[in-house]
Formats: sequence, structure tokens, C-alpha cells
Amino acid sequence: MKLIVVKDYEEMSREASLIIKDLLVKKPDATLGLATGSSPIGLYQNLIKYYENGEISFKNVKTYNLDEYCELPRSHPESYYSFMHRNLFSHVDINEENVHIPCSEGSDLEALCKEYNDLLHKASIDLQLLGIGANGHIGFNEPNTPFDQETWVVKLTEKTRKDNQRFFKSLDEVPTHAMTMGIANIMQAKKLLLVASGKNKAEAIRRLASGEVNPECPATILNRHPDAVVIVDEDAASLIK
Ligand code: F6R
Repeated sequence: MKLIVVKDYEEMSREASLIIKDLLVKKPDATLGLATGSSPIGLYQNLIKYYENGEISFKNVKTYNLDEYCELPRSHPESYYSFMHRNLFSHVDINEENVHIPCSEGSDLEALCKEYNDLLHKASIDLQLLGIGANGHIGFNEPNTPFDQETWVVKLTEKTRKDNQRFFKSLDEVPTHAMTMGIANIMQAKKLLLVASGKNKAEAIRRLASGEVNPECPATILNRHPDAVVIVDEDAASLIK
């Protein structure tokens, strides 16, 4: 695993967006695994700028998102479907047919998980972008998720619901479940790119940087990936010895 420590969120976003830009320049039909949350917003803004400057195009890019809340219709402003369109897809020339986001609308969630998992088996993700939860989760794979887990429906921990409350009017409105790629799906990507900023990520980043591999901190599985790059700001790196 390659760990890069930078000054702040802005620098983290720049470094990470340059890695994705390089990939899209070399491979304009690349397949990207994408994430939501606060961590990737800055890097998505940079990708939009590169697109506007004519440096990259998304015309032939395929995308697969990590996760989606259950119980929220896609049209809800806080669905990850809405998030991705608001923060990236609506601003670039991506072909909507190439966009894949888990669909958790419907009563048969098991069938929807299988459908997304089958799509992931057929896809070959060149680069999977990841954020990290304060408890070390990746996607919505909370502590002690088995490393061989594939796409599934997860009951969110209270910690994760509280962390995400900032996007909703109240804690009651935060969904209790989400559909997520499993750790096994994430590990299939050719390259993993994790970004983290802020002091609340410092303990999870300390564990990841220590080299341990422990399901208690799911992100530590990155230590087993042949090509994982982790870009963190000084606050997120503040507990690394
Ligand atoms: C989002 C996702 C989550 C977030 C993580 C960090 O698609 O899978 O694992 O990456 O919760 O969220 P932020 O970036 O908001 O701190």
C-alpha cells in the first residue's frame, strides 16, 4: 500500500483527481468504481474542470457506485443516485447507460443485490475510489464484515447513521439500511484509491497505516491489495507513528 500524506483537503483532492485524470487520458474507456460522501466532492470538482478544459472525456467511461441507501427513492436529494448526478454526472458527458448505482427501490432486495453483484462480476473495474468511515468502514461494510462478503444489504451502525446525519434534517430521517458492494467486490478492482481528511478519520488511518489486516477495521484489507494508494491530509495522518 502506498500512503501519501498531503497538507489539506484541497491538496488531497488535487492529488487524487490527477491519478484519475491520468487513467482517463491513457484509457478513455476505463471503468471507474465511485464513492459518495464529503471526501470525494473536491476531486469530482477537479474532474469537472479537467472535462471543461477538454483534458478528459467521460463519453466512453463506465461507472459502478459503491453503495446506496435503502428506503430512499432515487429522486430523494440525499440518495446516492442524486448525489452522483449533482456532484459529477450532470456536469460531464457521461452516457447515462454507462452509469451503475445499486438500486434499492423495490421489495425484493435480495434479487436486487444479486443483480448488482452479477453486473460487478462482468465488469472489470480499473480504479475503485473509496472514502473511509471513522470506524474504518469501506463502502458500507461496517466493522467485522467478512472479507469474502459480496454485494449485500447492511444494517447501518448508529455511529455511521450519526456521522451521516449532517445530510438530513434529523437522525430519524437517516436510513437504517444500505445496499453496498462487499469487501470481495471492492478487492477485485485493479487499483484502489482511498482518500481521507480530518481528525475524525485519524484512528482508522492509523490502523490502516500500521499494516494490520483486521476485520474490526475493514479498510485494513487494503494492505492485501497489490495496488492500493491512500491519500490523506495531515489531520487524518495525525495519529500515524
Ligand atoms: C460512500 C461510502 C462511505 C464513505 C465513508 C466516508 O459511498 O461508501 O464508505 O466513503 O462513510 O464518508 P465521508 O467522505 O462523508 O466522510
